[in-house]
Amino acid sequence: MPATVDRLFVHCRQLVTLTDGPAEGPRRGAAMRALGVVDDGAIAVRDGRIVAVGPTDTITREYRADEELDLGGYVVLPGFVDSHTHPVFATTREHEFHLRCAGADYMAIAAAGGGILSSMRAVRAMPLDELVARTVRHLWGFAAHGTTTVEAKSGYGLSLAAEQKSLLALQQAAGEVPLTVKRTFLGAHEFPPEYRDDREAYVRLLCDTMIPALAPLADYCDVFAEPGVFDAVQSRRVLEAAAAAGLRLRAHADEIQPMGGAELAVALGADSADHLGRISDAGIAALAASNTVGTLLPGTILFLAKPHQAPARRMLDAGCAIALATDFNPGSCPTQSMSLIHTLACSQLKMSAAECIVASTINPAYSLQLDGEVGTLHAGKWADLVVLDLPSWEGIGYAFGGNPVAMTIKRGVPIAANVTERFPDCFAAGADLGDRD
Ligand code: NIG
Ligand code: FE
Repeated sequence: MPATVDRLFVHCRQLVTLTDGPAEGPRRGAAMRALGVVDDGAIAVRDGRIVAVGPTDTITREYRADEELDLGGYVVLPGFVDSHTHPVFATTREHEFHLRCAGADYMAIAAAGGGILSSMRAVRAMPLDELVARTVRHLWGFAAHGTTTVEAKSGYGLSLAAEQKSLLALQQAAGEVPLTVKRTFLGAHEFPPEYRDDREAYVRLLCDTMIPALAPLADYCDVFAEPGVFDAVQSRRVLEAAAAAGLRLRAHADEIQPMGGAELAVALGADSADHLGRISDAGIAALAASNTVGTLLPGTILFLAKPHQAPARRMLDAGCAIALATDFNPGSCPTQSMSLIHTLACSQLKMSAAECIVASTINPAYSLQLDGEVGTLHAGKWADLVVLDLPSWEGIGYAFGGNPVAMTIKRGVPIAANVTERFPDCFAAGADLGDRD
């Protein structure tokens, strides 16, 4: 007798399960290329979780469901996990993009009060409910691009009140969009104008007041560790205060100038060191010997027209666990498209298509302590899926600038569909997504 499940997704042209590797991360070396591909694959789902994956004829022999969705012709993967984003912002900054294209420098624009500070002014001025509405819109953009789990940072408030408003906006927005959202406090994103001439006072405010007060609203603390922003000593103080307040750690490290940021992140046991455009050999060695994930953001370096992409090949060959993320933000990388990030990771970072898949699923999930729940299609995990209108999984990065996502499925429920004529009533099922933490 076939067992009863809630739903079957059948006839996937290719089902990329990642079950050739371990269920949990981080993956490095050869494991970063272990996919597990089932032709004409199917997935059985009960209570939002995967019961079984395999060939359609096997799964349909063993399981019955009232609801069956034929994904014939589509490539299906675990939903993307985007582990570095800044979606809590009020306005876009296209004028700065064109200033940079005309020759202005990113850090010079920032030093002149533009950049992060212009986003800060807009966030401070916006009422909470409007900021929630903007953030909701930004989160839906991830769903439309096949992302089912997002790490989201504050960092455009830069005062106790405005950072609190940002984290509350994120909490409320996350309650309105069916994605898993991990929250990061990034009060150490820049020095606000009122502390421009007394940076020490802002570091003290962060460590002594903001972090203890806002820790209950966040999972992680991040810092923009960069010469001219938070130096190595200030970055360490912020991260140590965050750890003492019970937050886990991430860092913007070695993005534009080398500063030993990767080494600092490893020394403090951070879950992720991000950007790494100018990581040193010592930083690569430290990362490779640790479980800190190196999160690469090739969209940012490209959009800023900076010359140094992260040395991904050397990092992979040294044994670093690598993740890819969009860095979605209004200044340096306004994209929510993980498939575009694959294009850039292949062409700029020389990563293989298989490495890109691992780096946008199980490894970022590990950096968010969610690898037991998402990131592969092992039985027992949430049925978070991205359905791609592609001839094969190698087509993800090849879909240059387009959106190959036909449908995004969260906990077994379709939440976004770009090919609605194929799936006219896919929302009718409407199962309860339940607790999204
Ligand atoms: O990750 N590097 C710092 N923060 C963002 C950019 C923020 C902005 O320019 O608004 C980043 O690139
Ligand atoms: Fe960032």
